[in-house]
Amino acid sequence: MELQRSDGEVNFEPNVKIKNTDLNMAAPETLLKLSDVTLRYDSGAGPVEVLKGVSLEVKGGESLAIIGPSGSGKSTLLNVIGTLDRPASGLVALAGEDLSQLNDVQLASVRNNRIGFIFQAHYLLPQCTVLENVLVPTLPGGKSDSREKAPERAQRLLKRVGLGDRTHHRPGQLSGGERQRTAVVRALINQPQLLLADEPTGSLDRASAQELATLLLELNREEGVTLIVVTHALDLAHKMGRVLELNDGRLTQAT
Ligand SMILES: Nc1ncnc2c1ncn2[C@@H]1O[C@H](COP(=O)(O)OP(=O)(O)OP(=O)(O)O)[C@@H](O)[C@H]1O
Ligand SMILES: [Mg+2]
Repeated sequence: MELQRSDGEVNFEPNVKIKNTDLNMAAPETLLKLSDVTLRYDSGAGPVEVLKGVSLEVKGGESLAIIGPSGSGKSTLLNVIGTLDRPASGLVALAGEDLSQLNDVQLASVRNNRIGFIFQAHYLLPQCTVLENVLVPTLPGGKSDSREKAPERAQRLLKRVGLGDRTHHRPGQLSGGERQRTAVVRALINQPQLLLADEPTGSLDRASAQELATLLLELNREEGVTLIVVTHALDLAHKMGRVLELNDGRLTQAT
């Protein structure tokens, strides 16, 4: 599938469709599907079964919160969805595409172009300005159409999140909430279908956390990006369209 061209460029078939018709991907609006996903870590202290059969279907444009006790596997699950970790068994499909069929180059392209990540720590580059930071994902292998329009898109989104007059600041010159809003714009710059946020408000004070939560939901609606947020903050979780709880390696409807 991967074609190494003589000029050194790597080509691949962009869409490896699921061949197994039994998977029965319901309507095309299903963006993400997990079926019976398992994952265990083999550490020195013995194996830890973290995901014991997680099934989940998320429709395009949905907003979803995942809650659960510390150590229940929320970050692990987000990493599996974000293709940073491969499950031991089970299916993870994004827009009908079985991610287990993709090679590392293809997975990197999925991560860069179709999924946006926001973490508890913003991971901004300290030596770069706000504008430069949000443009980083558009540099290598970014979508060609978004690469052309990236600077304008960056300016528009930065203005949208209230950072229009901070574009030439460096992260060290920003408040915590401003840094996290910069990370949100960076996550959205390549117009991903799916935005994954792991404790995005974890390092913010209450007011900034509320502001960021509201912003994420507004962007979910305005940009049409599907949003999955892992959080301990129940008030944030209940702002989302749906709340699921990860407990004992399985996802259930939160009560
Ligand atoms: N690389 C690893 N090797 C071995 N065990 C790991 C590894 N990463 C995570 N674990 C274990 O897997 C379990 C789930 O970890 P994970 O980080 O997904 O939890 P979490 O629900 O995100 O917790 P928190 O709310 O504290 O962030 C934990 O028991 C953790 O110790
Ligand atoms: Mg975690």
